[in-house]
Amino acid sequence: MTPNPTVLITGATKGIGRAIAERFAPECKVLHLVSRHASDLLELNDVLSRSGLEIHVHEVDLSEAIQVQQLVTDVLQISPNIDVLINNAGVYLPGSLLDESSGNLDYMIRLNVLSHYELTKGLVPALKGKGHVFHMASVASRKMFVNKPSYSISKHAQLALTDAFRHELRPLGIRVTTVMPGPTWSASWENVDFPEERLLDPRHIADLMWHAWNLPQEADLEELVIRPREGDID
Ligand SMILES: NC(=O)c1ccc[n+]([C@@H]2O[C@H](COP(=O)([O-])OP(=O)(O)OC[C@H]3O[C@@H](n4cnc5c(N)ncnc54)[C@H](OP(=O)(O)O)[C@@H]3O)[C@@H](O)[C@H]2O)c1
Repeated sequence: MTPNPTVLITGATKGIGRAIAERFAPECKVLHLVSRHASDLLELNDVLSRSGLEIHVHEVDLSEAIQVQQLVTDVLQISPNIDVLINNAGVYLPGSLLDESSGNLDYMIRLNVLSHYELTKGLVPALKGKGHVFHMASVASRKMFVNKPSYSISKHAQLALTDAFRHELRPLGIRVTTVMPGPTWSASWENVDFPEERLLDPRHIADLMWHAWNLPQEADLEELVIRPREGDID
């Protein structure tokens, strides 16, 4: 690990991404924060701001390939060296294969898989030598949730993508960690009536990622799987 790293986090304004931003920010020199809404990004910028930390906010819709390409260009101009890339942005859209809205699967593949592919690939020149890439996957990356088929399909594909990146990035000195949480408090669960402990606290995931990044450079924590003690919610 490098002291005072340069870190990029997608989906940084809410849920798990926000907890990651709050965990990493006190230790960072440069922080790139990505989401679709400028107002949320500016609010987060104000919360995290401190002397010695340079924050760049990027209002980007990562489901649009052209915007991902522009993000790569903008980030490389500001930060030719990046220590940590956290591809966290992703979405769950409900429905079964036969009754879901047309375009559901396509959208989740674009955001949950292809944006991670394009961003990681585009930023490799900045990560070479000592970078660390995290892809936010899910327990649905290994288990087919029959009530969430398209989400599970996208997360299975994302896991395969991340494994393939690990294979190709290892010789370049870049570590790759797949993070697979179970149900975690975030915007997606805000209307459910569960006791607090039934879902994971996103800060615990952020802590695990911080520790994975802090391992000596020669150690690569390849996968993190964490569930609520009571297990999944099907
Ligand atoms: N929560 C869970 O139970 C759970 C469990 C396992 C894995 N995960 C995974 O963890 C990741 C984060 O989930 P979360 O539950 O924390 O989500 P969340 O609370 O809904 O937050 C999603 C974040 O991503 C941003 N975002 C959404 N769509 C975007 C787009 N098209 N382009 C750019 N940014 C976008 C959102 O900001 P804007 O809306 O302003 O763009 C927000 O900052 C996802 O990959 C999800 O699959 C979640």
